[in-house]
Amino acid sequence: MNKNSKTSSFLNSQFDDLSSNEKFDFLEDLEDFLKQQDRAYYQHNISNISDAEYDKLKLLYDKLITNNPDIRGKSYLNSVGHKPSDKFEKVNHKVPMLSLSNIFESEGVSDFIDRVRRYLSLNSNDNLEIVSEPKIDGLSATLTYIKGNLHIGATRGDGSQGENVTQNIKTISNIPHTIEDPNVPDILEIRGEIYMKKSDFFELNERMLKEGKQTYVNPRNTASGSLRHLDVNVTKLRKLYFFAYTWGEISSGIADSHYEMLGLFKKWGFDVNPYTKINNSFEDIIASYNDLNEIRASLDYDLDGVVYKVNSIAYQDRLGFISRSPRWAIAHKFESERAITKILDIEIQVGRTGSLTPVAKLEPVNIGGVVVKNATLHNEDFIKGQNSEGGNIRDGADIRIGDQVQIIRSGDVIPKVVDVNIKDRNIDSKEFIFPENCPVCGSSAERELNEYTGKISSVRRCTGGLYCNSQILGSLEFFVSRDAMNIEGFGGKSMELFFNSGFVKEPGDIYTLQLRQSRDEIDILSLEGWGELSMNNLFQSINDRRSVSLDKFIYSLGIRHIGINNAKLVSQQLTSVENLLSTIGKISHDPDDALQAFIQNDGLGKVVISSFLSFLQNDRNICILQNILKSIRVTDIINEISEDTAISGLSLVFTGKFDSMSRSEAKEQAERMGAKVLSSISARTDILVIGEDPGSKVKKAEELGIRIIGENEWLSLLGI
Ligand code: IVH
Repeated sequence: MNKNSKTSSFLNSQFDDLSSNEKFDFLEDLEDFLKQQDRAYYQHNISNISDAEYDKLKLLYDKLITNNPDIRGKSYLNSVGHKPSDKFEKVNHKVPMLSLSNIFESEGVSDFIDRVRRYLSLNSNDNLEIVSEPKIDGLSATLTYIKGNLHIGATRGDGSQGENVTQNIKTISNIPHTIEDPNVPDILEIRGEIYMKKSDFFELNERMLKEGKQTYVNPRNTASGSLRHLDVNVTKLRKLYFFAYTWGEISSGIADSHYEMLGLFKKWGFDVNPYTKINNSFEDIIASYNDLNEIRASLDYDLDGVVYKVNSIAYQDRLGFISRSPRWAIAHKFESERAITKILDIEIQVGRTGSLTPVAKLEPVNIGGVVVKNATLHNEDFIKGQNSEGGNIRDGADIRIGDQVQIIRSGDVIPKVVDVNIKDRNIDSKEFIFPENCPVCGSSAERELNEYTGKISSVRRCTGGLYCNSQILGSLEFFVSRDAMNIEGFGGKSMELFFNSGFVKEPGDIYTLQLRQSRDEIDILSLEGWGELSMNNLFQSINDRRSVSLDKFIYSLGIRHIGINNAKLVSQQLTSVENLLSTIGKISHDPDDALQAFIQNDGLGKVVISSFLSFLQNDRNICILQNILKSIRVTDIINEISEDTAISGLSLVFTGKFDSMSRSEAKEQAERMGAKVLSSISARTDILVIGEDPGSKVKKAEELGIRIIGENEWLSLLGI
C-alpha cells in the first residue's frame, strides 16, 4: 500500500467496530507508521506525507489512545520525540525585550554615570547605586508565570515578538516549573540568559568528532540551536542552564531595587549569577569589571562583558528607554580577542545601500575558538592609513595584499583589521587602488558630499541604485530580515538562489511565489536543497507575515537613514498607508509642502526627511512599494495620547535648568502625558516652561502672548 492510501485507510477506518485484538493491531500499525514518519523527518529531513495528514493521524492516534487506555497502554507520543508542528508559535512580548548599548572603555563608564546623574538631576552628594553583573554570552529568554506556574517560555525574537519554546524551556533543569510562594505576583515574567556550559560544549564536540560529524562553533550558537530545536528531546540532551537577571510584566510592584528583585528570584528557585554586586562609585565599578575580567577564563560559561544597571527601580522608571535600549543600563564589553595573520586578497563587497566595503581575505586564523577568514577594512581611507578628517592613523601606514595584519573579533561583530606590520612587508607589494566603479554593475562609485555637515563621506557608493544586482539582492535580504518583515526561510544563501533563478526580483514577488508555483510558472523544487517540506514551510512563513504595522513596513523598504527608530517617527507622522500614498502624490505636486509637514516633527532630522522624501520621488521605488501593497495589509499606527491629562495635545517648549529633573526627563514626561515638545517657540506653542536662566525664549514667548510657567507650576500640572 502506498503512503497516501495507508493514510486514508487509517483515517477512514471504523475503529469502534473492531474487536479488542483488532484495535490493538490497528493502534500498533498506526504507531509504527507515525514512528516511521518521525524517523524520516528527523534523520533524513524527508516528509513522506503532508503536514496536514500527519497532524490528522497524530490527532486520531491521540484520541484513540486516550479513549481506549486498556487496549495499548501509554501513548508513544508522550515518551518519544514526535514530529511537532513545523514551526514555533509566536508570542508577543507585552514589555519589549530590549538590548543594551555597549561601551568598550572605562571613559564610557563615567559618561554613563554622568548621563544618569544629569538626567535625574542628582546632586553630587546624592548616592547612586549601580549593580554590576556578568554579561552572559547566551540567548535571552522570558518566562511567564501565572499564579506561580510556568505558563510560557519564549525567545527574544525581534524584541517585540519571540517564539514560544515552552516545552523546550521546561527541559532546563534549573528553571522552576512552579514558584512556591503565596505572595508571588499573579503575573510574573522573569527574564534572563540561557547558556550552555563550556565543559558540556567541549564534551559534545568530542562526541561529534568521534562520530565523524561536524563540530559546533561555540557554546552560544549551540545553545541557541538547541533551545530552538523542534525535537524537545534534543534540547533535553544538550544540557542548558538559565541565569535570571531582569523581568518583564509583573502584576504588582514587589521590590524597590534591582538587587532586591534578584534576591526574590533566588528565593523563588532561580539561579542568579553569584558575581552580581552593588557598587557605589566609579572606582568600585571598574574594580568589579577588572575582577570579572580576571576570573572569566576560569568560569564554566562564556562572558562577553559586564552589565551595569541603576539599582533603584524608581530611578529606572524615570530613566526609561532611548531607542531600543534602557537608559538605566549599559554593557561594558571585554577587550576583544586578537590574532596576527596575512592578507591574501582584498575584495570589494557592495551593500544594499550601494556602499563599497573592502574585505580582507585572510590566511585562516583561529581567534578564541572561531576560524576567521574575512575581516573588514572599513573604507578606502582606512586602507590608506587616514582617518575621516584626513589625519594619519597607524602613522600613515597603508595596508596591502600580502601584509601581516592584526585582527580583532568580539562576539557577533564582524572581525576587523586593526593594525599592519610594515616592517616585514614584501618589497614587491603594491599600494591597493580602491575601485571607482562598482565591481558588480560597473556604475560609477562616488563619495558623496554631505550638504549638512559639509564633509565628504568616507564611504564610496555605487550610483547604480536598483540597476545594481548587489543592491537589489541586499534590499531583498533586508526586507525579509528579522527586524523588518521577519519572514523566515530565506536565510543563508536562499534569497540569492531565488534572486539568481529570477523567481524573486523585487519584494512583491515574494508574496506571489506560492501562486506561481501552483500555476507551474516557477519550479521551486528544482532549486538546489529545496524540497516539499522546506517550500511549504517557506509559504507558511510568508503567509504568516501578510499583515504588518506601518513602521515595520517603512523600515523594511530599507531607505537610507530610516532605521527602526526613524521608521517609527515617520509612521507616527503618517499614521496610515493611505497617508503614505497621498504623500507620494503631494511630493510630485509640491515637494516643499511635503517637506514642511515633516519638518514639524521634532524628532526627525533634515537628512532623514530628505532621504525619505527622495525615496518617494523615485518611480521605480513607488512601483516596488505598490507591488508589495498588492499582497499585504499594513496596519495603522495609533498614536497613544493620554486623553485625560492636563497637557495632552498641547505644544510645549522647555528652557533653562530645572531642579527636580533634567530637561530631557521633563520632555519625556510631557510626551508620555500626550504633549508635543518642540525646541523653538512659534505661534503654535501653547506653554513655555522655564527653569533657572531661561534665556531669550522668554522674550519671544511674551511677544507672542504665550503662557509661561515655572517649575513648580509645571510639577503641579503633572500632578507631582
Ligand atoms: S539586561 C533591558 N543583563 O545581553 C535590559 N542582559 O546586549 C535587558 N545579557 O539581550 C538586558 N547578560 O541577551 C542583561 N546580566 C545581563 C545580561 C544580559 C547577558 C544579554 C541579553 C541581552 C543582551 C544585550
